[in-house]
Amino acid sequence: MTSPAQQTVLSATGLNAWYGAAQALFDVDLTASSGEIVGLLGRNGAGKSTTFNAIMNLQVRSSGDIALDGEPVARMGADAIARRGVAWVPEDRRIFTNLTVRENLELARFAAGDREPVSVDDLLDSLPLLDKLIDRKGNQLSGGEQQLVAVARALVSRPRLLLLDEPTEGLAPLIVEGIAEAISRLPAAYGVTILLAEQNLPFVTQLTSRVYVLETGRVVHAGPTDEFARDADLQDRFLSISMAH
Ligand SMILES: Nc1ncnc2c1ncn2[C@@H]1O[C@H](COP(=O)(O)OP(=O)(O)OP(=O)(O)O)[C@@H](O)[C@H]1O
Ligand SMILES: [Mg+2]
Repeated sequence: MTSPAQQTVLSATGLNAWYGAAQALFDVDLTASSGEIVGLLGRNGAGKSTTFNAIMNLQVRSSGDIALDGEPVARMGADAIARRGVAWVPEDRRIFTNLTVRENLELARFAAGDREPVSVDDLLDSLPLLDKLIDRKGNQLSGGEQQLVAVARALVSRPRLLLLDEPTEGLAPLIVEGIAEAISRLPAAYGVTILLAEQNLPFVTQLTSRVYVLETGRVVHAGPTDEFARDADLQDRFLSISMAH
């Protein structure tokens, strides 16, 4: 789905990261092109969230180059990185539980920087599942519904790049199907590029064109998703659950 002419939105080169003295990423290289959904796979503790922490310059010390649309952004403040168009949906989703969904979405307008924020009406058009949730409070949502709201909230700022950290974690298969359907429409609807950290290989296979696989902080495999999805050997080596058997 990517052609060489497509613009590189994210480029990380030689990314290292440390929690205190413990190195958690080693010389990670990855790219994502405009409109692409790229998978970031790996077992628990492989370094998926750390890659996002390093991109956002939160919680971890890093070295290496990170470019967004060709502009260096490594180690800028997380707020500046967000204003430049990187939106992050962390593993714990962080919805405001005492605010309604609408209020959660409206609050996110401040992250848009110079871009025109996406209106709640536009979000409802592109994510119809939101409609019945819009006046509920965050604490009245299921895990899947919270995930959907977290993704919607990240889109409000019209990001160039969306970092999604294990959106299917803890969700029932039927709900995962709805989330997959919603995510699949985002590149066309919002022109956003997505880096998708996951352990759910069927979900990744459904959504992504390419994958990077991390193990103990290193990229141990990179290539087309369909190739990886057929390779039981690679899956056994680097994932907890394989789907090629
Ligand atoms: N805040 C932290 N302080 C110290 N070490 C950390 C911290 N966060 C993660 N680590 C360590 O960094 C390594 C990579 O962890 P990371 O959270 O990036 O893995 P992950 O691929 O996101 O795993 P999971 O699928 O469980 O979310 C692990 O060894 C982990 O123990
Ligand atoms: Mg993680």
